[in-house]
Formats: sequence, structure tokens, C-alpha cells
Amino acid sequence: MGQVHVLDHPLIQHKLTYIRNKDTGTKEFRALVQEVSMLMAYEITRNLPLAETEVDTPVARARTNVIAGKTLALVPVLRAGLGMLDGILNLIPNAKVGHVGLYRDPETLQPVEYYCKLPANVEERDVIVVDPMLATGGSASAALAAVKARGAKQPKLMCLVAVPEGIRTVQRDHEDVDIFTAAVDDYLNDHGYIVPGLGDAGDRLFGTK
Ligand code: PRP
Ligand code: URA
Repeated sequence: MGQVHVLDHPLIQHKLTYIRNKDTGTKEFRALVQEVSMLMAYEITRNLPLAETEVDTPVARARTNVIAGKTLALVPVLRAGLGMLDGILNLIPNAKVGHVGLYRDPETLQPVEYYCKLPANVEERDVIVVDPMLATGGSASAALAAVKARGAKQPKLMCLVAVPEGIRTVQRDHEDVDIFTAAVDDYLNDHGYIVPGLGDAGDRLFGTK
């Protein structure tokens, strides 16, 4: 069974408070989501495998390490996942980027896939699926299925706010997937919104309604 990692670094928790605040405007919301995403990426990549190498310093030859294997693939779920992308890329600028396009049908709340394009050799890469909200879990589960169907092995899921129901859905559908989140909130309301959550992540990131 995949693990749930709640990233409780004080900076992440502090910034999440301002992200949640309904009075935080689009510009600040976007900046804060990027900052938190960068901090979360630091924690998520903590166990990346290293390979030994050597480098000539100005003084001597040094035995050192670099990250092993092919560069990471980040896969934001359109559209709200895009809001987390630049923050992660600040930390891992060489990462490849794929996209999965999903929307929730407003009546059934079921995810509908409309786009999927992933980096080459995705089967050889560490893959992180990125979506700020894990609500019913339908979108995350469908996005994980989409990347796995194209070869991704044991992708990770990174979100800002999750609820137990969404975590259960992902764990039921994807036993191998580790979930990284900044918070696990209380429940889903009748409209499928996370309570207390932060509202509609896509609308708040892009200033739509
Ligand atoms: C939001 C969010 C997730 C989804 C989570 O996207 O970004 O993808 O809801 O809900 P779920 O866990 O119940 O599937 P939304 O469908 O609102 O689309 P958007 O990103 O285009 O705003
Ligand atoms: N999607 C959002 O953007 N917010 C929620 O609370 C739930 C799903």
C-alpha cells in the first residue's frame, strides 16, 4: 500500500494558511502556490537515487554524487495543476513536463479525460502527478491511470489539500502510489468541495469563476 506523507514543514504550513484565506487575491494566491510547491518538491525528492561521479575542483579531484538516471517527469493535471508547475521547476529546472487534461463533470463529479501528452521514455523516469486538490479522488485516480497506461511506473501524487475520501480512492485504485500533501482536511461538502479547503483551486489561480 502506498504511503500518505503530510508535509508539515513550518514554511509549507504557514504559506498554506494564506492560500486558504478567502481574501487572498489571484496574484498572491498564485505566488504562494508556487512557493509551497517548490518547498514540497524539496521534500518529495529527498529519496531520489544518487550515482557516484568525479569532478575536478580547483584544488583536487573529488568523488561526488549526481541524481541517477533520467530526469524527472512532472505531470500537472489541467488546469489547476499548472499552478504548481513553475514552483517545482524553480527547484528542478531540468524536469520534463507532461500534461493530463481532465475536468470534473459538474453533475456526476466524474473526471473526463480530454488530453494526455507525456515526455519520451516515461517508463524510465520518476513521475510526479501534480494536482492541488484531492477531493473525491476521481481526477487523481484517472490521471494516475492515464500516465500508467502510457508506461509510467509507480508515479507519485503531489497535492496541496486532500480529504480522507480522496486518499481512499487513490489507495483503492493505485496501491503502489505514494501521496504527498500539505494537509488532510475534514470532509467533502455536497458540491464536492473540500471543507475547509481553499475553494476552487483553478478559479483562484486563474481568476475565473
Ligand atoms: C479540480 C482539481 C482537481 C479536481 C479534484 O479540478 O484541480 O483536478 O478538481 O476533484 P476530485 O478529486 O473530486 O476529482 P476541476 O475539475 O475543478 O478543473 P480545473 O482544474 O480545470 O479547475
Ligand atoms: N476542486 C477544487 O478546486 N476544490 C475543491 O475543494 C474540490 C475540488
